[in-house]
Amino acid sequence: MYRYLPIRRVYGRQVLDSRGNPTVEVEVTVGEGIVGVNGTTGRAMVPSGASTGKFEAVEIRDGNKREYMGLSVEKAVSNVNTKLADAVLGENALDQNAIDFLLLEADGTENKSNVGANAMLGVSMAVARAAAKALKLPLFQYIGGVHAKRMPVPMMNILNGGVHANNTVDLQEFMIMPVGAESFHDGLRMCVEIYQYLKIILKEEKLTTSVGDEGGFAPDLEDSRQVLSYIIRAIERAGFRPGEDITIAIDAAASELYDEEKEAYYFPGETQKKGKTILRSGKEMVDYYKDLAEEFPIVSIEDGLHEDDWEGWKHLTRELGTKIQLVGDDLFVTNIKRLRCGIKLQAANAILVKVNQIGTLSEALDAVEMAQKAGYKAVISHRSGETEDSFIADLAVASGAGQIKTGAPCRSDRNAKYNQLLRIEDYLGKLAVYEHPFVVM
Ligand code: PGA
Ligand code: ZN
Repeated sequence: MYRYLPIRRVYGRQVLDSRGNPTVEVEVTVGEGIVGVNGTTGRAMVPSGASTGKFEAVEIRDGNKREYMGLSVEKAVSNVNTKLADAVLGENALDQNAIDFLLLEADGTENKSNVGANAMLGVSMAVARAAAKALKLPLFQYIGGVHAKRMPVPMMNILNGGVHANNTVDLQEFMIMPVGAESFHDGLRMCVEIYQYLKIILKEEKLTTSVGDEGGFAPDLEDSRQVLSYIIRAIERAGFRPGEDITIAIDAAASELYDEEKEAYYFPGETQKKGKTILRSGKEMVDYYKDLAEEFPIVSIEDGLHEDDWEGWKHLTRELGTKIQLVGDDLFVTNIKRLRCGIKLQAANAILVKVNQIGTLSEALDAVEMAQKAGYKAVISHRSGETEDSFIADLAVASGAGQIKTGAPCRSDRNAKYNQLLRIEDYLGKLAVYEHPFVVM
């Protein structure tokens, strides 16, 4: 049909994300002829983190305290409409690698601080969308090709803590994985039922059922053990077997807990609840996870240690890596340089992939590819600040990553991704594959 699909228009605007903070939205129009008459437009919205890794590509914010508390993104939007538009106008939208390379060149810095990773990512994703639409292909097939059929197992965050909620839970995310399900929709249903039972249980215990940034409940609980025991109760009450039908994943987001002066991890909520200072050294953190994993069916731990602690990560991986998926989020920041380092050191055994940590679609796909070649798992992930854009749902199937982290089944910014995955599974029909992510068939 097309081999050359010129980019005719690139237009950025400021919109709101799920926390009410401004973010970048980009529209890209491709095709022959006059724009607006017979062009095809793709649109994309950029997510944003709260427990942001310090090695992430730079998200440009205006910093004018009188507007949106300094969080407006007018500068990034203007970079989309000038520097980035100039770089890609007239170029071939079907050559995503080349487009992303031009975006990188237009920025010219290692950390994307010139035009901003938020500006670049909006263009990168919108180009892919426009190209897919022009070819009349579903986005996941356009990106993933003829072999894309593997549905991700959800890592559903049902209990929020850390910087995503103002409760006393110190670890950021407690997630359930429906590994015993037959299909994606079946797994999603199981998770939703558990989420609803967890709400009932929290209500019975007179605990709050208000939610955190990713839609998980955010009650004031004593410690991780108590959180996990509530989750087990919810799994059982919903009629499922913990460890068989449903396993548990944690994102400790340990960079947020790390106190550089004390060289230890500080647990403020547990400290408050127990009335004594709770500090854990790196070694104690590893033992802490070991104990939790002995008591509960934990199969995956993300950011168990902080982002600078390569030695600690090696130790963690030696101690737990044969049994448990150890996911580097702040550690790798979707960056193949950091991932390569981790692979060499045998630090972690999986990578979290967040498109805005790196700034272009091609670089995110590079990270998945490098991980898979090294025998590392990859988990496609949302940010705590999301939008109704469901791009990562398509990316999860396109990349064959096999796992997705996209929050609780609550708040439409999260459900947009689950709903898109339901559509993709429906479209694939019998050809859809849903497998336990840690078992090689
Ligand atoms: P963030 O949290 O988007 O706030 O960084 C998500 C995560 O840590 O995985
Ligand atoms: Zn994380």
